[in-house]
Amino acid sequence: MAEYVRNCWYMAAWVREVPEDGFLARKLLDRSWLLWRNPDDSWALVEDRCPHRFVPLSRGRFADGRIACGYHGLTFDGTGACVHNPFGHAVPDTARISAMPVVERHGALWFWPGDAGRADPATIPDFAFVESGPATGKSHYVMGVNYELIADNLLDLSHAEFLHVESFGTNGSLFSHGAQTVVQDDTGAIWNKWDMTGAPPPGWALPMLGEGATVDQILHIRWHAPASLALFIRMTRSGGAEVIAEMVNPHILTPETQHSTHYFFTHEPGPEAEAMARRVFLEEDEPMIAAQAEAMGDADFWVLKPLILPSDAAAIRARRRMMQLRRAEQ
Ligand code: FES
Ligand SMILES: [Fe+2]
Repeated sequence: MAEYVRNCWYMAAWVREVPEDGFLARKLLDRSWLLWRNPDDSWALVEDRCPHRFVPLSRGRFADGRIACGYHGLTFDGTGACVHNPFGHAVPDTARISAMPVVERHGALWFWPGDAGRADPATIPDFAFVESGPATGKSHYVMGVNYELIADNLLDLSHAEFLHVESFGTNGSLFSHGAQTVVQDDTGAIWNKWDMTGAPPPGWALPMLGEGATVDQILHIRWHAPASLALFIRMTRSGGAEVIAEMVNPHILTPETQHSTHYFFTHEPGPEAEAMARRVFLEEDEPMIAAQAEAMGDADFWVLKPLILPSDAAAIRARRRMMQLRRAEQ
């Protein structure tokens, strides 16, 4: 499996996932971490492993932005420094745990696993829409496949016409009435834009539109390295300004391991809407991507010489960018 790109912002969690007066334990990029809010309201992300006998610090006691190991009591703060040694000796320099820069932005916590000196919060991808629109539910689940396979899936929305026929497919209008554009914007994001014009409306919109009406629809997806995506959907009556449907959603992917991915998404508030959003991932995308992963084994994507279709243009560009970033870090 390909190395992780280090000098990049990854999402660790939604702010709401971190308990007040406690910590969230989460595996990120193959290592176990603890995430908490410090007494001064800054954030801490430190390794969940004591340097003494390597037990998880999450088995210890947490208070006031410090975690005391549950085995022999060494205590660490949010910078990873050992701040208390119950045996009374001076604390050796090696009594430290790893820490990563972590920043709160748009209801989410972002970390930088690379060179901390290069961690510029201004380069966190713009997900302001998560907080500026109507109230949303913010959810997370772990999908049991590699994150780059999920990014490929999201970057090529033509699969909706086959895999999501029951949920949000567009009745084939992507092919009959759609045009695809792939562009890069000045933030470095890669976009795959499908624009459908004069298309027959989906069944659910018919009562609103009346007989014979057609719709214009956009299905735009934006990708920032390593795998932070946003999906923009908008449907209007053809030629008019009447908006039939409009939404924008984050699809932010962070590797838990090489074979599992934290999938951060939003939905309308309430457990029913969450279950519906989750159902599409669980019943439609995940089984297909898991079968794909099994068929690929541990082979590298490029070594398998994939057949490339025009609809893959954005996914291929994203994979090339990831290769460049990896090369730059070697
Ligand atoms: S294992 Fe943590 S203090 Fe001994
Ligand atoms: Fe999908």
